[in-house]
Amino acid sequence: MKTLLRTLPLAVLLWLVQSASVFAVDDVAATKHNLASTQPTAGNIRTADTAFVCGFCHSPHTEAGGPAPLWNRTSPTGPYTMYTSATMDMTAAASPASISLACLSCHDGTVAFDQLINGAGSGGYNAGGASQGWAFTDGTSAVANTMPAGVTNLGTNLTGDHPISVTYDPTADTAFVALATVQASSVQLYGGSEDQVECASCHNPHEATNPTFLRVAIDTLCTTCHIK
Ligand code: HEC
Ligand code: HEC
Ligand code: HEC
Ligand code: HEC
Repeated sequence: MKTLLRTLPLAVLLWLVQSASVFAVDDVAATKHNLASTQPTAGNIRTADTAFVCGFCHSPHTEAGGPAPLWNRTSPTGPYTMYTSATMDMTAAASPASISLACLSCHDGTVAFDQLINGAGSGGYNAGGASQGWAFTDGTSAVANTMPAGVTNLGTNLTGDHPISVTYDPTADTAFVALATVQASSVQLYGGSEDQVECASCHNPHEATNPTFLRVAIDTLCTTCHIK
């Protein structure tokens, strides 16, 4: 590798470094999912009360059994109305499964951004996940500590949103790409059998190189799973 790097022309090296497809690196801090004081973009929601970017979602020390790895947020309780349709052939859960519940802990608008199990800094652990009492702004004016009304607030009625917590099963509907092919693609299936479609199947909460955190660019995202 060293010899190869030494012999490559500088232009090629620069291209390799810049090319996101070769070196795609997650950078949460640069996205709207940075709710901390380091949020770089005017207009995006942030608080001046902590610089701990990851802490809004994860903590190194939190409760066991959260919906996502080392999850630091209070889970919403719904109840949710799930997507239904006469033409659905696969099996969907009656309520959102863990990874989707993690997203909905901000995106259904019922849990405050700062309802954290382990607050930043010394002490601050509260298993109940109470609000830390932090103040949020859009960089200029005060904003609420919950998801603003609008397209980013899905609410608890999910009947107008792409089905989630569905067991991906192309044998039930042949208009779908083979399971193994999807598992090998850039979308992410969850659960022990790696066959559950969740919010984070399409969105990577850590990276917004594609608009709206999409794991696959919008032109080919849908046909990663659907044969249409
Ligand atoms: C807005 C919420 C949010 C923030 C902020 C966030 N994460 Fe995550 N993270 C998630 C969710 C949801 C999952 C589970 C879905 C998944 O695995 O992609 C996850 C999964 C992970 C995982 C396990 C799966 C994987 O991708 O390796 C790691 C490690 C991780 N996050 C690290 C971090 C670190 C480090 C930071 C801060 C730099 C961070 N996260 C910030 C939401 C967040
Ligand atoms: C800690 C709270 C929090 C969690 C957890 C969270 N988000 Fe967000 N998300 C936000 C905020 C805040 C915004 C910006 C909302 C706004 O300005 O209207 C946002 C914006 C988004 C956007 C729109 C981005 C854009 O450019 O318009 C998408 C898509 C999104 N989140 C998906 C997810 C998914 C999927 C998950 C779970 C894997 C998730 N989020 C978890 C807080 C969160
Ligand atoms: C099958 C793929 C898929 C699933 C599953 C999915 N989304 Fe999305 N989502 C998208 C796409 C594609 C867009 C962008 C649509 C557009 O460009 O108009 C989007 C947009 C969004 C937006 C931003 C809307 C905007 O215009 O700013 C939010 C927030 C969001 N999704 C959250 C979620 C949450 C939370 C879940 C789970 C409850 C979820 N998504 C499940 C594909 C998906
Ligand atoms: C990760 C795989 C995956 C991706 C990516 C995906 N879908 Fe789906 N989609 C599914 C599954 C699974 C179902 C449930 C199918 C069933 O039960 O028959 C579904 C259902 C649907 C349905 C409802 C079908 C019905 O019978 O009611 C529509 C419409 C749809 N998807 C459109 C889209 C669009 C548009 C995109 C891209 C933005 C997309 N999907 C991306 C897996 C995916």
